[in-house]
Amino acid sequence: MILAPSILAADFGRLADHAGEALEAGAEWLHVDVMDGHFVPNISVGPMVVEAMSRVCRRYEATLDVHLMIEKPERYLRDFAEAGADRLTVHVETCPHLHRTIQQIRELGVRPGVTLNPATPVELLYPILEDVDLVLIMSVNPGFGGQEFLPGSLDRIRQVRAALNRIGSKAHVQVDGGIHPGNIAQAVGAGADVIVAGSAVFRGDVAANVRQLRESLRQTA
Ligand code: DX5
Ligand code: ZN
Repeated sequence: MILAPSILAADFGRLADHAGEALEAGAEWLHVDVMDGHFVPNISVGPMVVEAMSRVCRRYEATLDVHLMIEKPERYLRDFAEAGADRLTVHVETCPHLHRTIQQIRELGVRPGVTLNPATPVELLYPILEDVDLVLIMSVNPGFGGQEFLPGSLDRIRQVRAALNRIGSKAHVQVDGGIHPGNIAQAVGAGADVIVAGSAVFRGDVAANVRQLRESLRQTA
């Protein structure tokens, strides 16, 4: 299981240090949520913060995982690639020419991922599955941290994992939103191998939180 702490819940007054604590504690990826105030109601960060996080990731040999919740993401792919993103994930809802957008990400030397809102049918992903390295199942409506995990997400994880298996794809299945020690094992059991967690990592003692997330997985395994 790969843990990808979402910096949305971190202290932005000392962002690099706080993010570094999570990587120091053993998290493998760092998840950056980019929000434009249009596709989602919230506004978060852009390429400059991604660039700062890329320096933190390099220190720990961690993967910089960038989740784009923005309209017309194709306009900014190059900026995020140059800022140091290792992975760029786009929403099907924002990409009328999804194959082209995924191809653009790959041509920039970045690993492409695709995601969708909880109310969007997972079947919409099927035509693109063989072209992506990661599928992200949103388990909350994107826009804010600290929301409740939507239980229907477990079935959606299972469906996507099965669809990937059918085509022999080894793509990651990532889950994002409302993950905590009480439900992480269910998400992994359903087939997720990359777990995004914001509040569950950055609220309180980061190292203890990371340990507890991994521990709750072992206990139920
Ligand atoms: C929501 C973001 C998530 C968010 C998760 O739009 O995509 O990455 O930060 O936060 P928690 O883990 O607090 O639900
Ligand atoms: Zn996210």
